Amino acid sequence: MTVVGAGTMGSQIALQTALSGRYDVTLVDTVPGQLQRARAQNKKLLDRSVEKQRVTSEQAGQAIERIEDSDDLARAVASADLVIEAVIENFDAKKSVFEDLGKHARRDAVLASNSSTIVVSRLADFTGRPERCCNMHFFHPVTVMQLCEVVRGPKTGDETVETAMEFVRSIGRTPVLLKKEIWGFIVNRVLFAASEEAMRLLDGGYAGAEDIDIAVQKGLNWPMGPFHLLDFSGLDVFYGAMQDRHSLGEGPEAPAVLRRLVEGGRLGRKTGKGFFDYD
Ligand SMILES: NC(=O)c1ccc[n+]([C@@H]2O[C@H](COP(=O)([O-])OP(=O)(O)OC[C@H]3O[C@@H](n4cnc5c(N)ncnc54)[C@H](O)[C@@H]3O)[C@@H](O)[C@H]2O)c1
Repeated sequence: MTVVGAGTMGSQIALQTALSGRYDVTLVDTVPGQLQRARAQNKKLLDRSVEKQRVTSEQAGQAIERIEDSDDLARAVASADLVIEAVIENFDAKKSVFEDLGKHARRDAVLASNSSTIVVSRLADFTGRPERCCNMHFFHPVTVMQLCEVVRGPKTGDETVETAMEFVRSIGRTPVLLKKEIWGFIVNRVLFAASEEAMRLLDGGYAGAEDIDIAVQKGLNWPMGPFHLLDFSGLDVFYGAMQDRHSLGEGPEAPAVLRRLVEGGRLGRKTGKGFFDYD
């Protein structure tokens, strides 16, 4: 199988696949130095897993060996039976990759996008075989997070869905099927709804961020409350996704409190300040 895009997600999807011991993986990136950075990052992740005795050093070594790097998409996809695209979240970049996949991938290969917001129906026709295309939405960090949302577009074939679901199982992850594509898929729709409600309560002065988080953590058994989760993920990422959803007519504008924080440079943990302050 082949992964296109060796950033945060692509490198980890390749690593999780290699760790299953069942596939040889080719990882493609066109930005100079990125494949080396991905390899170094994956080695670091594996070292930690060995330390924590989640994998043996032999398994770690074999996993790294199974990932071949390539800057030549045409060659890297020529014999793959599954290609997962994980390039930057930009429509034109993904469109160009899907056009190339249509030209160079095997006719029977499954062609999947890991996009969080671009549904496969916007990309599938560029391949000339939309029945072989779907979304496969993994979560960060892939080596820890169990879930992959497999999303069926209007033209996705049954066999494509079955292959994608079976692949996810085969690399030790749990697939769920979204039978009809919809912006945000399942997890982000539920998360956004809960986060927006939490921000409405905060903005209306009904409760403080700390108490809302404690209520959700202790009352719903979430591992962390919505505000800590927003700070952890990056407020700019959430804000961008909510504005994107609005521009596509799929939901309201991002809440005012979120806009104020982002405009004030409070982006969450990465800037040391978000809904909460961090050392
Ligand atoms: N980061 C997350 O938490 C997360 C979670 C789930 C899904 N996603 C989705 O995964 C995708 C990738 O996100 P990311 O966070 O890994 O991004 P990233 O910016 O870390 O990585 C993107 C990579 O794609 C490479 N790239 C760009 N154009 C390319 C091309 N034409 N051919 C080959 N490589 C190319 C870049 O060099 C970069 O290494 C996005 O669609 C995003 O929505 C991200």
